[in-house]
Amino acid sequence: MNQAPHTMPSASHHSPVMLVTGSAKRIGAAIVRAAHHKGYRVIIHCHHSEQQAKELATELNHIRANSAAVVVADLTIVNDSAALHVFVKDIIETFGQLDVLVHNASRFYPSPLGNIDHAQWDELFLTNAKAPLFLSQALSPYLKKQRGCIISLLDIHAHDRPFSHYTVYNMAKAAHRMMVQSLALEMAPDIRVNGVAPGVNVLPDSASDQAIDDKQQKSIIDAIPLQRVGRPDEIAHSVLYLVQAKYITGEIITVDGGRSLTLAGGHIS
Ligand SMILES: NC(=O)c1ccc[n+]([C@@H]2O[C@H](COP(=O)([O-])OP(=O)(O)OC[C@H]3O[C@@H](n4cnc5c(N)ncnc54)[C@H](OP(=O)(O)O)[C@@H]3O)[C@@H](O)[C@H]2O)c1
Repeated sequence: MNQAPHTMPSASHHSPVMLVTGSAKRIGAAIVRAAHHKGYRVIIHCHHSEQQAKELATELNHIRANSAAVVVADLTIVNDSAALHVFVKDIIETFGQLDVLVHNASRFYPSPLGNIDHAQWDELFLTNAKAPLFLSQALSPYLKKQRGCIISLLDIHAHDRPFSHYTVYNMAKAAHRMMVQSLALEMAPDIRVNGVAPGVNVLPDSASDQAIDDKQQKSIIDAIPLQRVGRPDEIAHSVLYLVQAKYITGEIITVDGGRSLTLAGGHIS
């Protein structure tokens, strides 16, 4: 855990604790910042972005000492029960409790028919469906103890209106969406389970293997009634709403500037 000078106000041992997977940057980091601002102690999980995760934790620990920690893990740990056990132990030992689990980590890239392979299937399903289920299961005793909640980052393309050429991603998010509804039933009344479905809130980094081209970006923005890409803090706002909405479970809030209304289904715009 990152330490901060003792002169800083210290996080209370009574503050609730939130874990956000894949939260070193982008939407995950916005959720972490918003929760921290509300008084949460936050666990920033990352895989490759350890440097960014540590910088974020240092920044938050300067605001309140001992209020942010980093846990590094490839989510393939869910394929190995011993590794998953170690991960759960690390998470719980960080602050001694867990109140909110946010499934944010994801992979996103096209998988055009004819070229779909097992590696794509495994990777897209791992982050977007399998890890959320196995993490939820493994952490459920701790969430139950706190009468906590789970929030899943889904997608407006997770049902009815697929994103063209992203079949495997669409299928994985659809499975994740059904997980939210299934676990909401099975975990009630102890743990609430809800989802947030972004439209286009942060475009993939242009340098990343997930980048989409200019033409595709323009056609997406043209199809958004509010005529702009959303902001990460607008997703975080809905996540924090669901955390405190004590009579809501099994619900999925769409945060897309109206984009779902314009989707023809089967086409990008
Ligand atoms: N961006 C959007 O507009 C949009 C639209 C619809 C839905 N969403 C959903 O909202 C969520 C956040 O979106 P985003 O664009 O901010 O996400 P992102 O940048 O694509 O991914 C978030 C993080 O996931 C982590 N990750 C990927 N594979 C991992 C693995 N095997 N093990 C551990 N961590 C792994 C990465 O962590 P490291 O960098 O540390 O490796 C990455 O930084 C996602 O679930 C996404 O599907 C986003």
